[in-house]
Amino acid sequence: LNYCVPRTRKEIFELLVKGLVRLEYRGYDSAGIAVDGDKKTEMDKNNNQKIVLIKKKGKVKALDEELYKKDGMDLQAELGTHFGIAHTRWATHGEPSAVNSHPQRSDKNNEFVVIHNGIITNYKELKKYLNSKGYEFESETDTEVIPKLIKYVYDNRERDDLSFSTLVERVIQQLEGAFALVFKSCNYPGEAVATRRGSPLLIGVRSEYESAEHIPIQYNSASNYFVLRGCANIPAVTAGHRATEPIVRINDDVQEKNSHNWPEENTMAVNSGEGKAVEYYFASDASAIIEHTNKVLYLEDDDIAAVVDGALSIHRLNRLAGEDPVRAIQTLQMELQEIMKGNFEAFMQKEIFEQPESVYNTMRGRICFDTNKVVLGGLKDHLKEVKRCRRLIMIGCGTSFHAAVATRQILEELTELPVMVELASDFLDRNTPVFRDDVCFYISQSGETADTLMALRYCKERGALTVGITNTVGSSISRDTDCGVHINAGPEIGVASTKAYTSQFVALIMFGLMMSEDRISLQARRLEIINGLKTLPDMIKKVLTLDKNIKSIADELYKQKSLLVMGRGFNYATCLEGALKIKEITYMHSEGILAGELKHGPLALIDKDMPVIMIIMKDACYTKCQNALQQVTARSGRPIILCCQDDPELVKNAYKTIELPQTVDCLQGILSVIPLQLMSFHLAVLRGYDVDCPRNLAKSVTVE
Ligand code: G6P
Repeated sequence: LNYCVPRTRKEIFELLVKGLVRLEYRGYDSAGIAVDGDKKTEMDKNNNQKIVLIKKKGKVKALDEELYKKDGMDLQAELGTHFGIAHTRWATHGEPSAVNSHPQRSDKNNEFVVIHNGIITNYKELKKYLNSKGYEFESETDTEVIPKLIKYVYDNRERDDLSFSTLVERVIQQLEGAFALVFKSCNYPGEAVATRRGSPLLIGVRSEYESAEHIPIQYNSASNYFVLRGCANIPAVTAGHRATEPIVRINDDVQEKNSHNWPEENTMAVNSGEGKAVEYYFASDASAIIEHTNKVLYLEDDDIAAVVDGALSIHRLNRLAGEDPVRAIQTLQMELQEIMKGNFEAFMQKEIFEQPESVYNTMRGRICFDTNKVVLGGLKDHLKEVKRCRRLIMIGCGTSFHAAVATRQILEELTELPVMVELASDFLDRNTPVFRDDVCFYISQSGETADTLMALRYCKERGALTVGITNTVGSSISRDTDCGVHINAGPEIGVASTKAYTSQFVALIMFGLMMSEDRISLQARRLEIINGLKTLPDMIKKVLTLDKNIKSIADELYKQKSLLVMGRGFNYATCLEGALKIKEITYMHSEGILAGELKHGPLALIDKDMPVIMIIMKDACYTKCQNALQQVTARSGRPIILCCQDDPELVKNAYKTIELPQTVDCLQGILSVIPLQLMSFHLAVLRGYDVDCPRNLAKSVTVE
């Protein structure tokens, strides 16, 4: 929403489309946009501008082209205050199509339009009710009940001056499920209302006071008023700006305006300064808005945020006693450059090649190589409690689950505790017993995966200590856990996770090192691992130089239907993760096989035509892996072997080899996964697929 910042309609389109492109990794089945129509041509019965909806099946690019085909739209028209919304979809209910894409609307006149991330679980009941009131539905989505419901509430309002946010408040009281919603209505021109429950939503604020840092806003019960906490600490504003003026300040008017709708004590008001040029951005992820502002405010569940006359106010649906009333404006460290592809063909490729730095960033400031001390700031206050626990439970989905599998053995060794690794969905399906003396880890790149979040809530209810391992500062998991570690890998855009995996791996190992600091018997092992971590970025660089060799193997494999990946011990997780990468982006069938299980079934798949990659590193499983190799070659299998440098015996038996530098056994999986990341990338390119947007998948799955 731009307020007193004139923008042409074309600029507004470009801004929204760019935001969608940055979010496209979350879904790309279809996309849509809603903006105000032209003043001259499109007015409704109340002389308000009509809302124009443009929606298109396919990627954001298709929508972008469609925008400029619309007749009668004055692209150069300057819109002083204007609120536009846009959405890119990953289908849950209803096939990908224009009519099922968002914004969804209340009626043919587009009186209320809404965009939704999440799932409405009671939509059938609501639909039935609204049908009985004469509302006709046009899409197969769960979302459509929301605009219909708000229109129903509006049409049946008891008084004319009911605010937009009050309507939204009434609507969300009827909704079950998860949602982040942004509403627009021609009945409330220039106003925006957004709310969330379970799905992430943040608000970016851009004003001329860009240099103020971290300004929390707090309810002061004595004065019955929201005040800025710690005003004295607000850094001086740089030259050219008004000194001591914060980026946001209380706007007295807002409380007054809303007081007839909301009890005052439930309202937080934030304003960028009356009459000051300002823009507000509502987004589910900061990457969509980072090029406009790095000042963001994260909404909590059941917060309702409204912008009226350029002032942002936040209201709680239910304010619980003792709840934190602060919504701090944070300054994000993310750089635009981090979310650009640069010279790489795809984000995934860029992220693979970033791993020497991303892994280093995970360790930076946390390992002291002189004293061999490891300090994870987000965990240290809870370390005593963790050490007293009965077991560790590691929970995640997809790649994040594999990071748990990869580190389980070393964590068992270093913590001397039983470690369970759990897929979040299965963990919940089993109603797994969890106790107060368990410590549960939630591993998630995005910090928003619905299954993982549900598992977090489940364990919290049972009194376990919860630890987040995420890559996304401000994400639901990082906010809802008792403590945790940010892996600091930098934004990951490619749907197939790569650098997040290696950084999760390192973060979990650092946790093990922190836990074992006072165990005399483990000191030699700790030292070996810490030295291994020190040289890891350089070793990764060496592995990346194998890219050409890997591409030439991909040239031979890309027409195959299947690809098996086999290994055991510390490298079993690499097999699972490598096979997942291959499935995700090449659509080849691929299976990660525990070499110990070979003779119990998978051996039946082996013949001279079945491509198989075997991971055989010089560790405790070396001899056992060689046995598996014999079993494969005895059945005319032609294995591609991932092995350590200088292993002539293996090279002799291999159809092809990829030779890696050798590191400490428990870190070897970080090196061995990289050739498989590269392999999947090359296979996908050779097969002609879009590496960053694999079909049917989304990076962050915020539905169960
Ligand atoms: C989705 C993605 C996977 C990812 C998984 C877990 O399925 O496609 O690449 O590993 O979610 O995501 P998280 O953000 O929780 O690590």
